[in-house]
Amino acid sequence: MKMKRGIDMTDDSNTKAAMILFGATGDLAKRKLYPALYNIYRNSQEFHDFAVIGAARRPWDHETYREHVYAAIQPFVAEGDDVGDFLDRFHYYSIDVNDIQSYLGLKDMAEQLDHQYHLNGNRLFYLAMAPSFFGTVTHNLNDSSLSKTNGWKRLVIEKPFGHDLTSAQQLNQEIRHVFAEEEIYRIDHYLGKEMIQNIQVLRFANPIFEYMWNNRYISNVQITTSEHVGVGERAGYYDKTGALMDMVQNHVLQMVALTAMEPPSRLDTEDIRDEKVKALRSIRPVNADNVHDHIVRAQYTSGTIDDQVVPGYRDEDGVSHTSTTDTYIAGKLYIDNFRWSGVPFYIRTGKRLAEKSTEIVVEFKDSPMTHDFKGSDIRPNLLVIHVQPDEGISLKLNAKKFSTSNETMPVTMDFSSHGLDEYRASDAYERLLYDCIRGDSTNFTRWDEVALSWEYVDSVIKAWNEVNLPVKEYEAGSMGPSEADQLLAKSGHKWWPLNQMN
Ligand code: BG6
Repeated sequence: MKMKRGIDMTDDSNTKAAMILFGATGDLAKRKLYPALYNIYRNSQEFHDFAVIGAARRPWDHETYREHVYAAIQPFVAEGDDVGDFLDRFHYYSIDVNDIQSYLGLKDMAEQLDHQYHLNGNRLFYLAMAPSFFGTVTHNLNDSSLSKTNGWKRLVIEKPFGHDLTSAQQLNQEIRHVFAEEEIYRIDHYLGKEMIQNIQVLRFANPIFEYMWNNRYISNVQITTSEHVGVGERAGYYDKTGALMDMVQNHVLQMVALTAMEPPSRLDTEDIRDEKVKALRSIRPVNADNVHDHIVRAQYTSGTIDDQVVPGYRDEDGVSHTSTTDTYIAGKLYIDNFRWSGVPFYIRTGKRLAEKSTEIVVEFKDSPMTHDFKGSDIRPNLLVIHVQPDEGISLKLNAKKFSTSNETMPVTMDFSSHGLDEYRASDAYERLLYDCIRGDSTNFTRWDEVALSWEYVDSVIKAWNEVNLPVKEYEAGSMGPSEADQLLAKSGHKWWPLNQMN
């Protein structure tokens, strides 16, 4: 489905831009942004007039930078592809982000490239750097007049957006001095994933589902995003953050919002965001009285993953031996509105789990005749959105066995994106960068979404501090602590197995 959101696709002057990338020598730029830019350049007719200024501290020259970019895109370069024109458009600027003088040279370079490539003064500022610099950089962009341009200006900003509601508000105020809300593109890379974008299509283009998308027919919803990996080299960040802030505040709550939202009046950016906001606002806050029944926090101990013994979280490099940081969260959320009243949304996310998987499982209520099928294995109908590693949708049904008896068997109907000939898996960053270049902010989070997500997360942290909610343990390579199973069992539910596409 091609959704139009008020973008003039015929006017290619809109997609001309200078991208000014802070953090140009960093890991995100190398792993995600350069390959994404290259794939957009190679696959899209619309994005050929651009220049990139890579800004970072190291004293590199243009050539060193281009070699760095080439190394990053090389796995994506097909035989015979000429990357010369693409690489020529990359320029390097060594910057001290705290020094306003340093921005003046950057401004000169931006103006010169603007002139050379006829970029109409359009500027995309991408902050792929530590969040502690976000405020300083935006402030200096303004004071140096780099952000004052005749064309459009946009700011792309990575997570984490604050570490609680108050710090997020402060950060937002700082950047709002320089950029209007519609110029700010807050990245949540889950919103760039194919199957996350497919939720709207599945719901709003298929009335058979949407008519049943409520508490009359749905028993519960389960949203899992589980990882094999441990904390890796990010202990410094992760030990201060934990799974609740690292994953729930953004990716998981965005999946909740997309699953729970009302149909928007139109498939337009602000209409969609308005509905997500209403869903987030309806999430029941956690408090000291209900936190025990709603939240499980846990940390991994040593165990085995892929036949390798891996250390427990507290023995990871850079993690305190007495750390109580959560590497796993399971939660039961209620969305207090007419559509979802009484339907639990179970969420779970964790590191060092047995499966790498992101899935949304919608479990329908039992048929009133379930008990008539005596001795049969009748199961609830499940609609499963497989986000990763498989991408697709499956529907679990009951059917009669091919025999003379009346016995039943579970069957699955599935649709997998990989079955499509024309399908070329594009990365989430490729989609999001492309959207940003075209000025489509639908798949970025608006400020009120961020604020409401923090409100929920802050309520959880406040409650668990008040009651001293214990940090449970789970073995690396398991599917989490048994308390997460009990969370569902109390309401007669269970987690459905993951990665069962067929
Ligand atoms: C990031 C988190 O936002 O998402 C990481 O900071 C996590 O801790 C990652 O590993 C997961 O992303 P994906 O796309 O691999 O599911």
